[in-house]
Amino acid sequence: MFGNLFGLVAPDLAIDLGTANTLIYVKGRGVVLDEPSVVAYVSEGGRKVVHAVGAEAKTMLGKTHRSMEVVRPLRDGVIADFDVAEEMIKQFIKKVMPRPALISPQIVICVPTGATPVERRTILESAQAGGARKVHLIEEPVAAAVGAGLQIDDPAGCMVVDIGGGTTEIAVLSLGGVVWSRSLREAGDKMDEAMIQYLRRTENLLIGDSTAERIKKEIGTARAPDEGSGMTLQVKGRDNLTGVPKEITVTEAMVAEALSDPVNKIVEAVKQAFEQMPPELAADILDRGIMLTGGGAMLRNLDVVLKERISVGVSVAEEPLLCVVKGCGIALERLNTPEGRRLLTPEI
Ligand SMILES: Nc1ncnc2c1ncn2[C@@H]1O[C@H](COP(=O)(O)OP(=O)(O)OP(=O)(O)O)[C@@H](O)[C@H]1O
Ligand SMILES: [Mg+2]
Repeated sequence: MFGNLFGLVAPDLAIDLGTANTLIYVKGRGVVLDEPSVVAYVSEGGRKVVHAVGAEAKTMLGKTHRSMEVVRPLRDGVIADFDVAEEMIKQFIKKVMPRPALISPQIVICVPTGATPVERRTILESAQAGGARKVHLIEEPVAAAVGAGLQIDDPAGCMVVDIGGGTTEIAVLSLGGVVWSRSLREAGDKMDEAMIQYLRRTENLLIGDSTAERIKKEIGTARAPDEGSGMTLQVKGRDNLTGVPKEITVTEAMVAEALSDPVNKIVEAVKQAFEQMPPELAADILDRGIMLTGGGAMLRNLDVVLKERISVGVSVAEEPLLCVVKGCGIALERLNTPEGRRLLTPEI
């Protein structure tokens, strides 16, 4: 306590470094940071000088001048631009820990199950470079399941499907660990891309990523309304033929059609999971159902479509966007216990 007062010992942190959002949990305090994984920088003599990170940088996406770039340093759940990712982590840590400390924090950080050893090392090194004295890795679906309140220590298998921005992680957990998993590079970003392509193809309207995401969040659905075309949204963009700005009305039915390809791919992957996993596990999941986490789980009717197509119970976690960081936080709080350490990925 004496150390903490004088900023000698930094509090330990748990980080959900996501393709779309980064969240930080501080030991003993809870989730204190939730920002888009976006960085705005200016190139000065070959060096990237960070201008803004997080929410502030996201507002600049698609609107910057020539010397400034706004990028997302993660793609498909893994680090695509190491220098920028490292700088982003540093800045986020600084936001939650403004006072410098003599003893730097231990950090628990998640990795997608599909990440290669090189990609895992990159995530680990970026957290080290961000200022950690020790980094512990946790598989994303383990964190998602624990954060969603699933009892993963049971011998009966349970299934979690975490639909983020870059990846959909499908995993079956039993006795505290992942017994079967698959990572699919098909999630929220692919839905936004599908929305852009659809409006270009059917309406000759060009829109950007942020507009596509807004349509998905406001009137997005995995299934067309039973009657009529459902909710509507006015959307502005540029006409692909004339080049002039135009506004159209987008309906729920249009969005359902636009998103059908990525939604089908996710549903098919979950279906395949049942074909590929050992039959005893499939039987357990039939009893216990599937838990959906991650921002993509908030797409309306995705649970309904999954239930219809797979005939297994499906629940959406409470606060799906927070499950992974909460799970990382639980592992952090229990770091000194065997149960807590069992949640972590063995050293690489
Ligand atoms: N209401 C909503 N309906 C549909 N999608 C949504 C909704 N709210 C958020 N999303 C989407 O969820 C995604 C972000 O989810 P999340 O924060 O779990 O991803 P992430 O952890 O950053 O990514 P990953 O785990 O793939 O690295 C974005 O693609 C966002 O557009
Ligand atoms: Mg995630």
